[in-house]
Amino acid sequence: MSLDYWVFDPSTCQFTKPRVSILPSVFDYSALPHGSRALSDIGLRHFSRGRYALGEAYRLAGLDKQSALLAPAYHCVTMLDPALALGAQVQLYSLKPNLMPDSDSLEQMYSQSSLPVKALLATHFFGFVQDFSWLKQWCDERGIALIEDCSHVLFFEQYQARGAGLYGKFIASSPYKFFPCTDGGLLYAPDAHCLDGVQTESAGFLAELRGIKSAIEKSRLPKISTNGIDLIDQQLESITTAVPVPGSDQRMGRSAQSTQYLLASAKVASLRSSRWVTSHSSVKNNVTRRQENYRRWVQALSHIPNCRALYPEIPPDVIPYMFPLYLDIPMPHFYWLKQMGVPVWRWDEMAVSNCPVAADYRLHLLHLPCHQSLSNEEMEWMLAAVRKTLAIPTPGVQ
Ligand SMILES: Cc1ncc(COP(=O)(O)O)c(C=O)c1O
Repeated sequence: MSLDYWVFDPSTCQFTKPRVSILPSVFDYSALPHGSRALSDIGLRHFSRGRYALGEAYRLAGLDKQSALLAPAYHCVTMLDPALALGAQVQLYSLKPNLMPDSDSLEQMYSQSSLPVKALLATHFFGFVQDFSWLKQWCDERGIALIEDCSHVLFFEQYQARGAGLYGKFIASSPYKFFPCTDGGLLYAPDAHCLDGVQTESAGFLAELRGIKSAIEKSRLPKISTNGIDLIDQQLESITTAVPVPGSDQRMGRSAQSTQYLLASAKVASLRSSRWVTSHSSVKNNVTRRQENYRRWVQALSHIPNCRALYPEIPPDVIPYMFPLYLDIPMPHFYWLKQMGVPVWRWDEMAVSNCPVAADYRLHLLHLPCHQSLSNEEMEWMLAAVRKTLAIPTPGVQ
């Protein structure tokens, strides 16, 4: 099927390379294996990325050219890619401002679908685990497979007990977002028999070596210097006095998966080194550092104009993946943050839907790192850079 996408192309903007790693980079050894093992390989399969685990879940749910997937309107393209690769139709359901599925929209998408709906993708955005028990019931009543997207969730047995991965027939996750490993995607099914027959092939010896090399290089990247904060004002002055070169934002049709989904990688297992890192990393440290860093973001920006935290409260059992920050005026504030080298992600390539929240968040919602490898200097620098950038007034811009 064909979908229309909004695609933001920043190539003319000459953004600065991020000065801080957006994903964890430093291995934090713990002799106590935490639990991708504890989930046990019986109900688990390893892929190189969450998108390929999702692809397998979609296939097992029966998605094909004659059926449809219900997926969240606010998304990363890699959540839709595997369904498009199967030739399936994708229907985008609306989300509420807190990113919970809108039940009226689900009902409408389901009843209007010209093809039978075989699967529903439900995402726990940014690690804020939602109660999807009602979705399970909704899916069961209609014979739809619920696929829980735990890509933003630190997924292991103890955490599953807190609510993530409790209701899906299939659960996909992305360990490389939580641990300093080169790759990693998990597919889990509470009923292990659902994964019978799922085969992957090993990545090969050379890929293993390259993976180890890249993990070591990442851990050795230079950290921001202690005088970085003193330079912020000067950098901001030169950035904000120059005329910003906007990127292009275009609507275009696409009939297949994006280039971020490689059919050749769909059945390749994650690297052994990545699995080793994941199962020998300290989870305790991971959890506490992420929560601390998240709270630092909330506190540092609480009185700063032109922005608001999407989730200003972090319940004690949430292990955040990123800090989602809503910007009132993305141009020029997003532009300036990128010029400063602040590590920022944004889903500015997104399929077009009727959801006003997705349309709004596409350019306004930033994803900022709060991971466990961030040093105190890096956090201080990012907090100061974001605070100072957003405090700059933008006369005449609404
Ligand atoms: C919510 C969500 N689900 C799924 C994916 C796909 O995960 P991966 O990058 O591991 O393929 C992403 C990618 O960023 C994501 O953000």
